[in-house]
Amino acid sequence: MKNLKTIVLSNQEISPGYFRMKILAPGYHKMSQPGQFVMFRVQRSLLPLLRRPFGIFRVGFMPADCDNMPAKEFIEIIYKVVGDGTGIMQGLHYGDPVELLGPLGTGFDCGEAATEKILVGGGIGLVPLYSLAEKLVETSQVRLLMGGRTRDDIITVTEFERLGVETYVSTEDGSLGEAGLVTQVLEKKLKEYPQATVFACGPMPMIEAVQKICLQYNVPLQVSLEALMACGVGACLSCVVKGEGHTESDPRYLCTCTSGPVFAAEKLDWDAADVKIAKSGGCK
Ligand SMILES: Cc1cc2nc3c(=O)[nH]c(=O)nc-3n(C[C@H](O)[C@H](O)[C@H](O)COP(=O)(O)OP(=O)(O)OC[C@H]3O[C@@H](n4cnc5c(N)ncnc54)[C@H](O)[C@@H]3O)c2cc1C
Ligand code: FES
Repeated sequence: MKNLKTIVLSNQEISPGYFRMKILAPGYHKMSQPGQFVMFRVQRSLLPLLRRPFGIFRVGFMPADCDNMPAKEFIEIIYKVVGDGTGIMQGLHYGDPVELLGPLGTGFDCGEAATEKILVGGGIGLVPLYSLAEKLVETSQVRLLMGGRTRDDIITVTEFERLGVETYVSTEDGSLGEAGLVTQVLEKKLKEYPQATVFACGPMPMIEAVQKICLQYNVPLQVSLEALMACGVGACLSCVVKGEGHTESDPRYLCTCTSGPVFAAEKLDWDAADVKIAKSGGCK
């Protein structure tokens, strides 16, 4: 983990309200694991005071320049504009200074090679699944089930297809792919592939539904949780969730920023209200 003062390389709107930002990030190729995240700060701006967490979509290299400059290593993040921080981010351009603390957290465990892998992404929850897919396709058949409210929420699916991932799109309003919830598609796929391992990231109601389905079909599940985070390094405790076996006399809290954001489903207490972290308030 390091605090990197760097610059924006590009920042483009890829769907209404969704932006894709490329950031110069030397060292990230070696350092980062699928499912990890960065705490992002707009350097010149005092507000928002706190950094904001974003999953790493992809780590890559820009081709070396003709004047023999080394290839530039970058990360890409994809973000939805929802408030002050992301509102400022959408106005950033090439060369703007920014700060990255990362890579942070515990990422996905790729599991056994050769078993079926099913990735479930809801809206912006798709982001950490791309670098996971890049790794999984080396050894396994990978299927991506991507859900959103409307077609605007369906992003970067063709890039997964280019990796060799089979993709299934569903939207709640039926404007793209199958009409309905991504969890309905998951049930169908688990009937076809009962030996699969499932990886999920998205809004908390989707994650809870995925957990119930995976429990019912008795398949392993890893979830990436989006808690409200103030520090990202285990210091402020704004992101805690209750772990498996938690009781008042034997508290088992887990920091989403250090023990997660990716958890094996059985490590969490799904009956506890605190698992529903994304619905609660948090630090600014
Ligand atoms: C590990 C991790 C990875 C993330 N990856 C991504 C990503 O790849 N792309 C992306 O767009 N977002 C991602 N998020 C969520 C992102 O951090 C927030 O959307 C962002 O901090 C909002 O900042 P803001 O200042 O624009 O909004 P704020 O003004 O802080 O908040 C605006 C609204 O969004 C809600 N909100 C803020 N943070 C979250 C959250 N974590 N979950 C649910 N609601 C929230 C607030 O309650 C409020 O209603 C991730 C969060 C975590 C913890
Ligand atoms: S965000 Fe501060 S402890 Fe997790």
